[in-house]
Amino acid sequence: MTIAIITGSSRGIGKAAALECAKRGIGIIATYNSHKPGADELVHAIESQGGKAVALSLDVGKAETFAAFAERVGETLASYWGRTNFDFLVNNAGFGAFNRIEDVTSDAFDRLMAVHLKGPFFLTQALLPRMKDGGAIVNLSSATVRVATAGVAPYAAFKGGIEALTRYMAKEFGERRIRVNAVAPGAIRTDLADGALDKNPEFAALLASQTALGRVGEPEDVGRVIASLLSEESGWINAQTIEVAGGYMI
Ligand SMILES: NC(=O)c1ccc[n+]([C@@H]2O[C@H](COP(=O)([O-])OP(=O)(O)OC[C@H]3O[C@@H](n4cnc5c(N)ncnc54)[C@H](OP(=O)(O)O)[C@@H]3O)[C@@H](O)[C@H]2O)c1
Repeated sequence: MTIAIITGSSRGIGKAAALECAKRGIGIIATYNSHKPGADELVHAIESQGGKAVALSLDVGKAETFAAFAERVGETLASYWGRTNFDFLVNNAGFGAFNRIEDVTSDAFDRLMAVHLKGPFFLTQALLPRMKDGGAIVNLSSATVRVATAGVAPYAAFKGGIEALTRYMAKEFGERRIRVNAVAPGAIRTDLADGALDKNPEFAALLASQTALGRVGEPEDVGRVIASLLSEESGWINAQTIEVAGGYMI
């Protein structure tokens, strides 16, 4: 059994990716930050379908905790799977915030950077020694890198950073045959940005009208692509950003 660590899998895209990976026989180390019940529910759902999963707590905004997290991963691998290494990492955890550039505070900027850019960088660094050669990493970007969307400037800038980082990771980790790709979702119906799509049906309708396939995305639309990028069927895809947005603003 291969094993994937998926950050922020207590809900939304991370949870959908975990369920899709588990369906394909991958063991899951899920992480949660504030929503342990969501992660427990995920573990239960996977186990009830005959899969294997465990949930660990992790704040991706706190790089100083990553060494201890890597230790816990090591212990978990040994006790649940009798292994010393894992195969896949999905840097998915994230949050949204709407503010025009003139209203962004230094603190808000730093929080977004810590979770969306510094976190994935140093978490990957901390976990890399335990990652199996020939494995794969998927980083979550956003279609807002391509389509400038008023109100999300720092978020989109850090997602742009993750796309550059994806190519650099692919370059350096290629020596170990580790593939690294990014997925850039369009508007997906999740709790991101306080569930903006569900709370504001007019906004969701506008986004759907700007999408060639005529709807906003669901977490499963992205989860399937993440699972596919980790698998051997995508074995020759490397250093790419794949937009998963149904043809948004084309
Ligand atoms: N939804 C969209 O339209 C969309 C579009 C483009 C890109 N994305 C990206 O897709 C990824 C997943 O977003 P989503 O839409 O699935 O959001 P979501 O439903 O709000 O879920 C976010 C997940 O990230 C976790 N998380 C948030 N802050 C964290 C932190 N500081 N440390 C660790 N975990 C943290 C949450 O954990 P807890 O619940 O346990 O707190 C949760 O599991 C993000 O990187 C986001 O930027 C989303």
